[in-house]
Amino acid sequence: MRDEEARNILIANDRGGYTVPNGRVYPFQWNWDSAFVALGFATFDRDRAWVEIETLFKAQWTDGFLPHIVFWQDDPGYFPGPERWASGTDPLTSGITQPPVAATVVRALWDQGGVADRPRLEALFPKLMAWHRWFWRYRDRSGQGLVVALHPWETGRDNAPEWDRPGAAIDASDVAPYVRRDTSHLDASMRPTALEYDRYVALLDFGRERGWDHGRIAAENPFQVADVGLTMILLRADRDLLALAEALGRQDDASDLRERIALAEQGVDWLWNEEVGAYGSRDLLTGEPSGFITSASFLSFYAGLKHPDRDARLLGHLDRIGARVRYLTPSLDPADPGFDMMRYWRGPVWAVVNYMIGQGLAETGHGAMAERVRRDTRDLIQTSGFYEAFDPTSGAPTGGDDFSWTAAIWLCWAGR
Ligand code: GLC
Repeated sequence: MRDEEARNILIANDRGGYTVPNGRVYPFQWNWDSAFVALGFATFDRDRAWVEIETLFKAQWTDGFLPHIVFWQDDPGYFPGPERWASGTDPLTSGITQPPVAATVVRALWDQGGVADRPRLEALFPKLMAWHRWFWRYRDRSGQGLVVALHPWETGRDNAPEWDRPGAAIDASDVAPYVRRDTSHLDASMRPTALEYDRYVALLDFGRERGWDHGRIAAENPFQVADVGLTMILLRADRDLLALAEALGRQDDASDLRERIALAEQGVDWLWNEEVGAYGSRDLLTGEPSGFITSASFLSFYAGLKHPDRDARLLGHLDRIGARVRYLTPSLDPADPGFDMMRYWRGPVWAVVNYMIGQGLAETGHGAMAERVRRDTRDLIQTSGFYEAFDPTSGAPTGGDDFSWTAAIWLCWAGR
């Protein structure tokens, strides 16, 4: 029954070639939401799955950048909308990006479909490659194999506590007035605070005032954090893109990808925090590690990293956290004093993150823990419905309902 409900959510949120994350709160196309949504469509309509990604890449900029939001049609009920971003592009978009899961999803579509999909893969491949090159060029300027986020929204984990200290460097004292829309649709106690929101808008204005010149913004931005999530996700996506490059016989791209993978495998060492025994983000400007254990700390498995000592410590944390809360994987360690089981990326469980963690654990030989993560995700959705996120202690729903990516993850993984 839940399968049918999940399919119906995707169909109802389909706006013709792209799917909105949720019709009320998020009325446009979001980058990584769409990629996950394609995995859901692939379980019953492979053509529609490809279309989702193809539509997203229609909004790619000439420098390879792929925006985090595409404003295919305006919606006055949303802030910050296309006027505030002022991208000057057609279609209008935001000026920041989001975690690059698309190559991994395209590889999954290709693996399922095979030769019949070759023309579609050939058309998409150079676009994916251009986006990855954009990351290498603008978001790893010192060539360390990391990915630097210039806005918390780029990480996909908007209000994770990892951005608190680096965020203090953002001057939000004279942000031009604005009206938030998220808190009129949703309970404010589940959303980022006013200070956090001011910082989001200040960074947006900073980029817009520089005409979305990504080179210049990368050099001058007051917020520059090597994000553990983005870094692990790009490493994983580079590996998948390499498999696609090999399938298409693109030797030059393949050798560049191999080089970047090797670099990232070294680079992630800088994100390992020996004291806490976990990977975490690190402020590039001060060098300071965040010190937090978040759900993104466990994406090293998904990135294909194998490091017995570190893996044992990470699995130890998962055991400890899993004994403390009913449902893995809370977005923040419940032992942290800032843990808030309802507040967005400071506690709640997100189905897409669980999917990446679960996949990674299964692929690296940690089947029992992978299965725990999958079952917890299934039970959450089974009990509470297709919500944006869930309270890891009680399983209560948080955020918006009828969420596309939650439905997609049910179809491709959790509800299997
Ligand atoms: C929130 C999430 C982000 C997601 C977006 C749309 O901003 O933090 O990860 O892409 O909503 O669902």
